[in-house]
Amino acid sequence: MEKTKYMNPFRLAAVGDLHCSETSAGSYRYTFEDLNLRADALALCGDLTSRGKMSEIEVVLENLAEVRIPVVAVLGNHDYHEQNNHRFHDHLESAGVTVLDGDSMMLTIDNRTVGFAGAKGFAGGFGRRALPDFGEEIWRAFYRETLSEADKLRRALVSLETDLKIAVLHYAPILSTLTGEDPQIYAFMGSSELAKAIDDGAADLALHSHAHFGQETGSTPGGVPVYNVSEPLIGRSYAIFELEFPR
Ligand SMILES: [Fe+2]
Ligand SMILES: [Fe+2]
Repeated sequence: MEKTKYMNPFRLAAVGDLHCSETSAGSYRYTFEDLNLRADALALCGDLTSRGKMSEIEVVLENLAEVRIPVVAVLGNHDYHEQNNHRFHDHLESAGVTVLDGDSMMLTIDNRTVGFAGAKGFAGGFGRRALPDFGEEIWRAFYRETLSEADKLRRALVSLETDLKIAVLHYAPILSTLTGEDPQIYAFMGSSELAKAIDDGAADLALHSHAHFGQETGSTPGGVPVYNVSEPLIGRSYAIFELEFPR
């Protein structure tokens, strides 16, 4: 029997780890000008800058100057390096980019809705080898930060009542998209608490970057597809995902 197609899929472009710097100014290494025709929205998964400098966020905005579709972003660890993260947030928002730090955002397309929930995330490790809430205060503070970032994402996802729900992170929620990195740094690259949040929040898709040498695809224990869209890994300005709306 022929299937009735109710509407076009939602087309999401995504990339992280652009690591823009003053030396990339004007070079337009990242080709976004064709994006307006190819995608309905763009998700940026953090590490927009190399050293977290204000001059570097200006380069990011130059790169995005021709983008007319909605843009959502989370910041990455590099964007925090000079503690300009709050200024980055304001700069990006004033340029029309929605920055997600425990926040959600909804788009309506042809009467169907797409929700984004995002947070930077944090490290802490995975499964049985994850950092426990134990010992010296500095370790326990690290543990609390991991849980705080996961809870931010969980709350933002749960708040969405959209047809599609997309989780946007910088740090990795699963091990399989880290494979290829040095195993000694796995615990610094993400946390399985983030995967729990993605599953609890019933996301349809989760995106992250940070693992430049990882793998592109994986899934959470609950079966949510996870994609690592780190630019050095995907080798292009962005990946495009086509998501069918539920019938
Ligand atoms: Fe990075
Ligand atoms: Fe990073």
